[in-house]
Amino acid sequence: MSDEYVIELQSISKVYSTETLETHALQNINLKVVKGEFISIAGPSGCGKSTLLSLLGLLDTATSGTYLLANHDASNLGRDERARLRNQEIGFIFQSFNLISDLTVYENIELPLTYRSDLSTVKIQETVTEALDIVDMMSRADHFPSQLSGGQQQRVAVARAISGNPSLVLADEPCGNLDSKNAESVMQLLESLHKRGTTICMVTHDLKSAQRAERYVELFDGQIVSDNPIRIDKSQSAPAA
Ligand SMILES: Nc1ncnc2c1ncn2[C@@H]1O[C@H](COP(=O)(O)OP(=O)(O)O)[C@@H](O)[C@H]1O
Ligand SMILES: [Mg+2]
Repeated sequence: MSDEYVIELQSISKVYSTETLETHALQNINLKVVKGEFISIAGPSGCGKSTLLSLLGLLDTATSGTYLLANHDASNLGRDERARLRNQEIGFIFQSFNLISDLTVYENIELPLTYRSDLSTVKIQETVTEALDIVDMMSRADHFPSQLSGGQQQRVAVARAISGNPSLVLADEPCGNLDSKNAESVMQLLESLHKRGTTICMVTHDLKSAQRAERYVELFDGQIVSDNPIRIDKSQSAPAA
């Protein structure tokens, strides 16, 4: 049954063409992600990770193949329809946080919600407040991004990503600009979202972060070369019976 999948990619390829060069960034990608899964996508620089994430996030379109997102055929949508679907179904977390510098923390989270015709003003207020609470940033609601540490900015970006209750959260190197302590707090946040049922695809070249997911997809030269569940022996940290 296809309806349990949030993502279904069928034979997806992406070619970037310039006058002098054709880059086959992705070749024949087949990938299914079940609702609630937390997957990491890894591989060396230039292997196509960001390209894959921008296709998944409807920021770009494939050269060929089919993409089903939460049972919508997203392969041949017009620009407006893609933007609507993206706004409703997808939350993004980027390496560089991408907060809007002249909006407060509260306004950064509120802004994408104001484009949603299905949300009332009261519902938007509730949603922003709840998201701030989840990432423990309520006390900073009136601050501007420049007044926050990198780790705090990323927590706001996480709040923005989850605030519309999207089907899918996409994270491109979410800890890439963070020191180890802040990286750990963002990873813990992603794990807690996963426990709440959010579907997460995280790109990282850091093996340790990748292993925090439950499934590990490895790209090389635009192709999936491995796709395996992660089995970490959690019994080691449990008290002896
Ligand atoms: N907009 C673009 N135009 C042309 N080539 C691109 C573009 N974006 C990425 N590429 C090329 O596609 C390949 C994959 O890039 P990318 O998805 O950014 O890899 P990664 O995120 O794994 O480092 C690289 O060879 C890169 O140079
Ligand atoms: Mg990249």
